[in-house]
Amino acid sequence: MKATVALLLAFAGFSSALVYQHQLKHVESAMQKLIREGKWPERFAEKAAARSTGGEGVTDYDDVVYVATVQVGTPAQNFDVILDTGSSNFWVPDATCRVLACSNKHKFNGSASSTYSSQPGQSFTIQYGTGSARGVLATDKLCLGEANLCYNTQVFGRATSIADFFRNQPLDGILGLGWPALAVDHVTPPMQNLLPTLDMPVFTVFLSRVGAQDGVRNGGLFTYGAVDSTNCDSTWNYVPLSSQTYWQFVMSGVSAGSYSQNTNWQVISDTGTSFIGSPQTVANNIAQQMHATYNNQYGLYMLPCNSNVPNVVFTIGGQQYTIPKDEFVEPLTAGSSQCYLTWFGFNGGGFGPTWILGDTFIRTYCNLHDVGQARIGFAQSHNPHK
Ligand SMILES: *[C@@H]1O[C@H](CO)[C@@H](O)[C@H](O)[C@H]1NC(C)=O
Repeated sequence: MKATVALLLAFAGFSSALVYQHQLKHVESAMQKLIREGKWPERFAEKAAARSTGGEGVTDYDDVVYVATVQVGTPAQNFDVILDTGSSNFWVPDATCRVLACSNKHKFNGSASSTYSSQPGQSFTIQYGTGSARGVLATDKLCLGEANLCYNTQVFGRATSIADFFRNQPLDGILGLGWPALAVDHVTPPMQNLLPTLDMPVFTVFLSRVGAQDGVRNGGLFTYGAVDSTNCDSTWNYVPLSSQTYWQFVMSGVSAGSYSQNTNWQVISDTGTSFIGSPQTVANNIAQQMHATYNNQYGLYMLPCNSNVPNVVFTIGGQQYTIPKDEFVEPLTAGSSQCYLTWFGFNGGGFGPTWILGDTFIRTYCNLHDVGQARIGFAQSHNPHK
């Protein structure tokens, strides 16, 4: 009898707990694919040219390795998107997109959805490092997870033209989980619409370490409305956000081997970037500690795979975060004895973030995105070492 009551209560507790989980797939990135096909140096040269002619930003999604499925419309139309904490708009390719880059994507057909509205109808353009996605804003039902965390009137971009570089990418579109201030055309981002339905105004990101395997379903987990206590350690350390645009905060130090520097940098955590991006001089110093040399053709720091490299330690909010050396060293192609560092240097334009802590960091530390308290938390993830 007692057991029955307890069970019923547990059940009641479960059904009212509005927590949703969203599995990620691990995929081969555009960069990995192009390296394998011998086409990466050409692509890298294009990027370098675009940057020198004033192309903005470093985001181009070439190194995306985690995607998730979302549903748009009624009945649901499925799209593989990157859940990108470094941007704040949601868009998918539209059925009317005729450019080559759209040809092998899932495309949204508004006429096939009973919940679709063509409003607000204005045009949008999202600029990336080497091109853009353009189209019109419309409204429809959006569901995350296993079709159970839904918002009925999400404004999103129907992209009618996407830059050629998207052709190689293992994704249909992008779902931004950054703050509203970053959103193009002031569209309310999905998370802000979904938060009121959740138990807690937070989402936790866990990325698994699955190596170079392609299409692996358990690539990671986004947990909306709760802390992920299965994949993450119970000790969380928080830092306040220094800007509610990206998930931006202050990092006060970095060290590796005999190199260390203490400076208050503005940094962002970004699931849309695989690597660690740092100021160029820091990148050069880190590479030197790892006995890696910059390869102009590939745009990567390269080293023999059997090199002895040190761990890297970040200091954030007075806590030290150690990233194991294995996280930084990836084979150029499967089985290759030549490796590259998952680290790149960039010099931002004076203000704004000067570091990007991408998947290399997030695989080691789960990230708790606390929207309600405008802070971000980190806990050791339960990933096994490689
Ligand atoms: C969109 O859906 C409608 C209704 O199901 C269908 O008639 C039409 O052919 C579809 N258009 C495209 C481009 O797939």
